[in-house]
Amino acid sequence: MIQRNILKAKTFINESVDRVLEVSRERFPFKWEPNGLLNRQPNSSSPAWWLFAREIWRNPRAMGTAFPSSPQLAQTMAKLIPQPDKQTLVVELGAGTGIVTAALLQRGIIAERLIPIEQSAGLAHYLQQNFPHMRVINGDALHLSELLGHDCQRVSTIVSGLPFRSLPRSLKHGIMAQIDKVLPPNGLLIQFTYDLSGRLSYLPDHFKRVATRFVWSNFPPARIDVFQSFKVSKSG
Ligand SMILES: C[S@@+](CC[C@H](N)C(=O)[O-])C[C@H]1O[C@@H](n2cnc3c(N)ncnc32)[C@H](O)[C@@H]1O
Repeated sequence: MIQRNILKAKTFINESVDRVLEVSRERFPFKWEPNGLLNRQPNSSSPAWWLFAREIWRNPRAMGTAFPSSPQLAQTMAKLIPQPDKQTLVVELGAGTGIVTAALLQRGIIAERLIPIEQSAGLAHYLQQNFPHMRVINGDALHLSELLGHDCQRVSTIVSGLPFRSLPRSLKHGIMAQIDKVLPPNGLLIQFTYDLSGRLSYLPDHFKRVATRFVWSNFPPARIDVFQSFKVSKSG
């Protein structure tokens, strides 16, 4: 009972933060954006918080939160990832300012086997400057297989920071179809969400949850789910 009330309160806080962002953007649109501060190309010395805030202002639904993940959330996600073998790749969707990317490297995944994908050109540029040995892709996860090209067949794990809760329904399903296409049988999808109690309704049935972790110290508190694809291999 107490736990259910805590969950309700946390969900309420999360939704209020989303709403405040939406309303403030509607009420205070920056008319000067085209030539202004928001349009400057970031460089590796731009503070991450500023880049994140700038993207929230531009595209709150795609960011889905007012805050980058905490190091605790990033490290907990990274620990859930099995070390890829010599052939396989880890793809990170919605890499943002790279907090999870850095945790994945720290976990021992080598830069050449990690591909961050980020839809914001500014954030992708920042990531490439900060992680020069990595192939950072600036693109929409909706076109995942096309963006990966031949590497598509080498993916074993997808780590996702995509804000599925705030993305439009058709986009959510389109991205999930791409994830399903790219992941091989037994492949893993690691996703975090601020929805602490809900189910991820957009997942195909053959994705089964095999692990869950809660990170209460993150703001907002988050749940990490590991899903395994039990689809049947085409070759039988
Ligand atoms: C909640 S933030 C997570 C950022 C970072 N991974 C973290 O944990 O702090 C979501 C990120 O997903 C990116 N994103 C949203 N929709 C996307 C899409 N369709 N394709 C690729 N990236 C997307 C946003 O630009 C943003 O950087």
